[in-house]
Amino acid sequence: MYWSADRDLTASLVERAEAAGYGAIVLTLDTPLLGWRERDLERGYLPFLDGEGLANYFSDPVFRDALDQPPEENPGTAAMHFTDVFADPSLTWDDLGWLRERTDLPIVLKGILSPEDARLAAEHAEGLIVSNHGGRQVDGAIGAIEALPGVIEAIEESEHDCTTLFDSGIRRGADAIRAIALGADAVLLGRPYVYGLALGGEDGVEAVVKNFRADLDLTLGLCGCASMREVDRSCVIDASDR
Ligand SMILES: Cc1cc2nc3c(=O)[nH]c(=O)nc-3n(C[C@H](O)[C@H](O)[C@H](O)COP(=O)(O)O)c2cc1C
Repeated sequence: MYWSADRDLTASLVERAEAAGYGAIVLTLDTPLLGWRERDLERGYLPFLDGEGLANYFSDPVFRDALDQPPEENPGTAAMHFTDVFADPSLTWDDLGWLRERTDLPIVLKGILSPEDARLAAEHAEGLIVSNHGGRQVDGAIGAIEALPGVIEAIEESEHDCTTLFDSGIRRGADAIRAIALGADAVLLGRPYVYGLALGGEDGVEAVVKNFRADLDLTLGLCGCASMREVDRSCVIDASDR
């Protein structure tokens, strides 16, 4: 979820996610503004402005109520309204209490890179995702894998449990094993499944996942582990120690 500047819309998105049977609310924290993306600008690739990729909004009753004409009749104005309300850059950690009151679902905070934010995330949520948004937000941001050990240390020192997921750059089995070895509970795939989708639809996504799992399974065996549960810090070395 992107937390909208329109609180009623945010509440509606949460309610709809619950009603649709989702098991958690993933709240993206690292995109209060979109990063400067030259390639998108050069190509004029801004699909939201054409009303593409906004089905969650265009189908939302609160979003629709705020429009004079429905998005089907006037997608341009609906898209401009989306750009007005898409995010709320004034949010602070205290606002999470508002979300907590509105849902019993676990809250997962996405886009954590610093130990201090990890400590705060553990205080406020059931889970976090170590992610630099695939490097699409801040140029030169720390690599998510470099940030992971500091985040894990902060969680271990915290008095709260916090499931730690990881994304940004997971492409092969060894990437997943590295992240799990450094303490992540699970990893997430961002672009790879979209590449599969673009090339082969549902079958393409299935192929990506099957190949990924096969690579993971072989690499696990080659690391001397019979299951993911055996993957620990001893599977990786700290290059700075060499
Ligand atoms: C086309 C595209 C759309 C994305 N949309 C979202 C989004 O709506 N919310 C979000 O939190 N992250 C979004 N992301 C970021 C991904 O969730 C993920 O953090 C990022 O791609 C890094 O993982 P990867 O290296 O496996 O791609 C998007 C990424 C891409 C490439």
